Amino acid sequence: MSPATEPASGAVLLDTFGRQAEDLRISLTDKCSLRCTYCMPAEGLAWLPAKAVLSDDEIIRLATVFLGLGVRTIRLTGGEPLVRAGVAGLVRRLAGLRPRPELSLTTNAISLADKAVELARSGLDRVNVSLDTLDREKFHNLTRRDRLADVLAGLEAAQQAGLRPIKVNAVLMREQNLAEAPQLLSWALRAGYQMRFIEHMPLDAEHLWTMAGMVTADEVLSVLGQSFQLRPVGHRGHAPAEEFEVLDGPGRAGWAPAPQGGYRVGIIASVSRPFCRDCDRLRLTADGQLRTCLFGHQETDLRAALRDGASDQELAELIRQAVRAKPAGHGINAPGFRQPERPMSAIGG
Ligand code: 5AD
Ligand code: SF4
Repeated sequence: MSPATEPASGAVLLDTFGRQAEDLRISLTDKCSLRCTYCMPAEGLAWLPAKAVLSDDEIIRLATVFLGLGVRTIRLTGGEPLVRAGVAGLVRRLAGLRPRPELSLTTNAISLADKAVELARSGLDRVNVSLDTLDREKFHNLTRRDRLADVLAGLEAAQQAGLRPIKVNAVLMREQNLAEAPQLLSWALRAGYQMRFIEHMPLDAEHLWTMAGMVTADEVLSVLGQSFQLRPVGHRGHAPAEEFEVLDGPGRAGWAPAPQGGYRVGIIASVSRPFCRDCDRLRLTADGQLRTCLFGHQETDLRAALRDGASDQELAELIRQAVRAKPAGHGINAPGFRQPERPMSAIGG
């Protein structure tokens, strides 16, 4: 990055543990087109009233302030971000900001087939797709919707549109899809997607999560290790995924051409191997609350400040204060851990 686009010194977002916040996740809505059993109940949740949700103009105003404070990457999330109208237009406006942020989207891909080209043209750089199984019936059971074909079509459209590298995120549940992990990895290697397995986190709306019920990174590695030869890759930087190079495995001859750095699989072990020390993230909820930790209880009401007419400097100061108070870690493994009031779908993944 050229010196002209560097934020003025002292303008970056440092917390008291020396971490610099550079990655902002903006939730566009708390609504979703699926009802994953580990995320929300069949009937959905009490959605935010429309008035509570930030408008496109408000998102752009806040994003501009964050970029001035050294944020470099923006990820759009939900709920399911693509259920919001006009996401491509918002992407276009975000891509027009300077310094231009790197732009990505986390989606369940249900409506991605229709939107991938327009999103790519508008300036979206890449997508992460959530997909837990390749079995139609299991997909239906897990998400309570019979939409696997739409997700697969969405993935292909994203590939065609050049929204790469495409990462596919699967949450593994012992009874449902843990045994399918090797098939998911084989499929991703053939198709040229980067497969990542995520530990189930205590963020479900119904508070059904238990430590004992959670599939750990060790378990995933042991299941994968029965079919694949894996080698840990060091240097993960700020990435939440621990990466492994896939040296060999079933169907090797049919894998897509090897990406730079070789075939990879990622494990996101937020619970059993927390990466809080390297966390550079901030989250803006759909209703304009800034959260510095996914599992925290503290929120800063940027929407109220914005709607009360705060200046950019005042907004920047609120953001700086929130970052200074970012906790060292999420404390899931500490006694007395309390799950946040908001579920994942209302925070933004
Ligand atoms: N734990 C881990 N991952 C979750 N997701 C949703 N809820 C949870 C949870 N409680 C995942 C989705 C998606 C991403 C945004 O977060 O499957 O991949
Ligand atoms: Fe929707 Fe994601 Fe929750 Fe599934 S996990 S219901 S796709 S928000």
